[in-house]
Amino acid sequence: MKRWIMHVDMDAFYACVEQRDYPQLKGCPVIVGGLGQRGVVSTASYEARAFGVKSAMPMAAARRLCPDGVYIKPDIRRYKKVSDEIMRIFHEYAPLVQAVSIDEAFLDISGMRLDPKEYALRLKKEIKDRTGLTASVGIAPNKFLAKFASDYQKPDGLMMIKQEEAESILAPLPVDVLLGVGRSTQKTLQSYGINTVADFARADRNVLKKLLGKQTDMLLMLARGIDARPVEAELEAKSVGKEHTYEEDIFGADAARAEFLLLAQKVGWRLRKRGLCGYTLSIKVRFSSFETITRSVSTATGFYHDEDIYKAALQLAQKCSFGKGIRLLGITVSKLQSYDLSQSLLDFDGSDERLIRRTAAIDKLKERFGEGIITKGVLKDE
Ligand code: TTP
Ligand code: MG
Repeated sequence: MKRWIMHVDMDAFYACVEQRDYPQLKGCPVIVGGLGQRGVVSTASYEARAFGVKSAMPMAAARRLCPDGVYIKPDIRRYKKVSDEIMRIFHEYAPLVQAVSIDEAFLDISGMRLDPKEYALRLKKEIKDRTGLTASVGIAPNKFLAKFASDYQKPDGLMMIKQEEAESILAPLPVDVLLGVGRSTQKTLQSYGINTVADFARADRNVLKKLLGKQTDMLLMLARGIDARPVEAELEAKSVGKEHTYEEDIFGADAARAEFLLLAQKVGWRLRKRGLCGYTLSIKVRFSSFETITRSVSTATGFYHDEDIYKAALQLAQKCSFGKGIRLLGITVSKLQSYDLSQSLLDFDGSDERLIRRTAAIDKLKERFGEGIITKGVLKDE
């Protein structure tokens, strides 16, 4: 059966929700992001992008580029409601949906007796009618091409790529359109005269293997427009995490430990509220130079209790040098599975019982008085 995959991605999502809810902002450059000194741009409306404002840029830089822009703090709850409605529409339109982020998803519409382009137009209209917002849609025989196509004609775009056209569309493009080719890899490739996708496809496979290792063959397939990854229905969120950008850099291992403790408590609470535990834990450390490192560890027993999350984060952090200023710290738990604390009392051996009872007591207080009731220092720093 011929595969047809749609990739749907909302245009300037947070900013367009703001323009929809505050019509006086229509046509204005709108920048959504952290408004504090260390804030970062989440997204910018297309009017603001014309000034060079982009996602992930420091807010200070955005203000320099676009001094007359309208700057707004994100209201994730409002965006999430819109996201839920979009996801509902996707599920009405396709039997298999893989949400990728708050505003994008892959829809597998293979085998549907409809012209894919017609169908995409109907979907775009449905989204517009029900949310007032525009989306860009890419249609292709695989995920890689579909995502590429949705991005290609943004905003309010619709692009279809057939398998037989893929290679020639990709050939002249810079090699970084291939998944996983980041800026540093791109530089290395350039030093070997590999600038475009066509250069990449023609290059000596053994040379590529030395530069790129295991991913080489996958990238060579992508360069030819081939990608066999299936659309995978995702029932649960993929990860639960919390990160914090500090107004002022923090210094030293002790300060980092205290912050990890707070983050561990927040992540643990979020997991338990959703009845989840996770088998992989990652920390993220961003230094004032913007150098960012992540470290991960997996466990067979699952991360669920604040104590376990905190201990694992500290162990990972031991491998980092805290001699420099720290701008951001984060903890994320992934590989999630449902988990029920009351059930765990029956499953666990006696040695964990105190831990389980302590977690249950903390959660009871948090449920009654709010998350802020218990903070730093309650966990024993073992
Ligand atoms: P994107 O789909 O990457 O961006 P976008 O929808 O704003 O713009 P477009 O798709 O038209 O290029 O991300 C969706 C939302 O996720 C975005 O509106 C804000 C949020 N986001 C961040 O908070 N930080 C980021 O670095 C990025 C890229 C997105
Ligand atoms: Mg988007």
